[in-house]
Amino acid sequence: MKIAIFIFSGTGNTYFIGKKLQDEFKENNVLCDLFTVEKKHDDNRLIDDYDVIGLGYPIYGSDVPLLIRNWIDGLNIQNQKKAFVFCTQMMYSGDGAAYGGRLLAKKGFMIRQQAHFNMPNNITDYRILRPFNKHNLIKIEQKKNKQVNRFVKHILTDKKTRKGSNPISLGLGLFQRIPYQKMEMKWISNSIKIEDHCILCKKCIDLCPTGNFEIKDGILKTKNMCFACYRCINHCPVNALHCSKNALVKHPYRGPSERFNIKDVMEDCLITNELVMKQEDSV
Ligand SMILES: Cc1cc2nc3c(=O)[nH]c(=O)nc-3n(C[C@H](O)[C@H](O)[C@H](O)COP(=O)(O)O)c2cc1C
Repeated sequence: MKIAIFIFSGTGNTYFIGKKLQDEFKENNVLCDLFTVEKKHDDNRLIDDYDVIGLGYPIYGSDVPLLIRNWIDGLNIQNQKKAFVFCTQMMYSGDGAAYGGRLLAKKGFMIRQQAHFNMPNNITDYRILRPFNKHNLIKIEQKKNKQVNRFVKHILTDKKTRKGSNPISLGLGLFQRIPYQKMEMKWISNSIKIEDHCILCKKCIDLCPTGNFEIKDGILKTKNMCFACYRCINHCPVNALHCSKNALVKHPYRGPSERFNIKDVMEDCLITNELVMKQEDSV
């Protein structure tokens, strides 16, 4: 079996789970490549090369990030494929993974598994949502390993497990998603505020998945293309960026593990050659 997982991860949580899934498949001698939708490839052709497709994203107001929705819109697959969907969230999304599953199903995918992974909150500029204490990274690691193992077992045995597909989850998801989608165009797209103490280091320009930043006449400006992934906000070295009107970021969220490097979320993580070599060795 050959599996491809496509993800978007703003601040590392979804990447962390995607990488764990990839490692667990590898443990089971199953080929699994991890792609980011931030990179341009011919994904329709790529998908054709794999037996099972995975999709992972962070939840924004019970919604699927715009980048992922646009990616799904662009799909035009030739053969029906089995697929699994997972999302990461701080607390609750109702039908967060099921919603992405429904969008994929419209494109001809057979959705077999859906999962929700609770991870640290990455919104760091709203007082009410800030984490109360420092995240226990070892605990996150141990807890997520178990959930990942179970999810992978379900995928490998083709057991149907569709988290968030019941009517109550759908209702609660809609309750958050409808207002969120209304705000998306009016408010979120131009929500980034830049403080005067910005040092023009260009890190936000490097990291932004939509190319929302530019320096014009010696001043950092935005192009109203934000979809609130919080990557720039959490990685600004002087905490000069935020969305909230009144609060600056005091404790940025720098990812779910000690070794995490934000640039990793922008790279594909391919293991194909390594595994093929291993299999050839054992013949
Ligand atoms: C704009 C925004 C909206 C969010 N909405 C929700 C939500 O409705 N429910 C929830 O549980 N978490 C919500 N979160 C938290 C993220 O989904 C969560 O921290 C996620 O794991 C981040 O993944 P990433 O690090 O891969 O970007 C939201 C985060 C952002 C930035």
